[in-house]
Amino acid sequence: MLIRPRRLRKNKKIRNLVAESCLSVNDLIMPIFVDENIKDKKEIPSMPNQYRFSVEKAIEEAKEIADLGIPAVILFGIPKEKDDFATSAYKRGNVIERTIKGIKEEIGDELIVIADCCLCEYTTHGHCGIVKDGKILNDETLEILQKIALNYAEAGADIIAPSDMMDGRVRAIREILEKEGFTETLIMSYAAKYASSFYGPFRVAADSAPKFGDRKSYQMDYRNWREALKEIELDIKEGADLILIKPALSYLDIVKLAKDRFLLPIGAYSVSGEYSLVESGAKLGYINRDEVIKEILYSIKRAGADFIITYWAKEVAKKIIMGLF
Ligand code: PBG
Repeated sequence: MLIRPRRLRKNKKIRNLVAESCLSVNDLIMPIFVDENIKDKKEIPSMPNQYRFSVEKAIEEAKEIADLGIPAVILFGIPKEKDDFATSAYKRGNVIERTIKGIKEEIGDELIVIADCCLCEYTTHGHCGIVKDGKILNDETLEILQKIALNYAEAGADIIAPSDMMDGRVRAIREILEKEGFTETLIMSYAAKYASSFYGPFRVAADSAPKFGDRKSYQMDYRNWREALKEIELDIKEGADLILIKPALSYLDIVKLAKDRFLLPIGAYSVSGEYSLVESGAKLGYINRDEVIKEILYSIKRAGADFIITYWAKEVAKKIIMGLF
């Protein structure tokens, strides 16, 4: 007898009934770039329809995002001044501190505020750590990360998200948070963050490209998967609450492995290069943009991601609400 799997694909209702993955507004996190140097908002040249916002506009944007039912935003700052030690990332009144406070004053717990915690947007050399003789120093960087994390926690951030890939950073951040009484602040670790060319458009957006060399001595080698599991295991031991895999699309195997092996929530970051590839392909008329976005996000969910950071979050939330997704 002929076996007919197609029966389960006969029509939309049956397909929906048996679908194994779902995408909800609750799964989405929207990035916001906050630029201290601008007044209003400014489109990012490498990322069509994405903007840098002034602090005031970022707060308005956060309100819009919360109104759509999106649970969280992740903040990236572009400071007025940079130096070799990323001072502008943690000094009083810095761009992210003001944004966190503003959002919390306006909308409180209606929106989870995640603060990306890294040095690269705030250093003149553009590296994610302190540089000496062309090398990225690990332990000296941890002290700066502690200062940044504490500043953001004090401002009211719900989640600190270290994206620097220094060894021991989760432990260092957890220690300072515990010591200062921030026992409820979560840490979302970019545990498996690969040295990826898919970050190109982001580095234009955040003005964070390294001025010399690359990030391969701290971010991971894309030929490896066991290394990712080791990094995740360490971050869990050190006190992470949530784990992030980044980028998403070329690393769905890692998402799947992490989901099967660990008990923490696993997120995936659909990064700038993934976004801009789709947007430019669509502009050229080569692909059906909306369908491709849907397919990408569902595939990330299918791989096992509990949540997704995506530049399409706002648009997708609107479409989900309208029943179009
Ligand atoms: C900062 C950071 C980067 C991204 C998020 N946090 C860039 C990098 O590591 O160079 C990339 C996000 C994206 O490409 O969308 N360390």
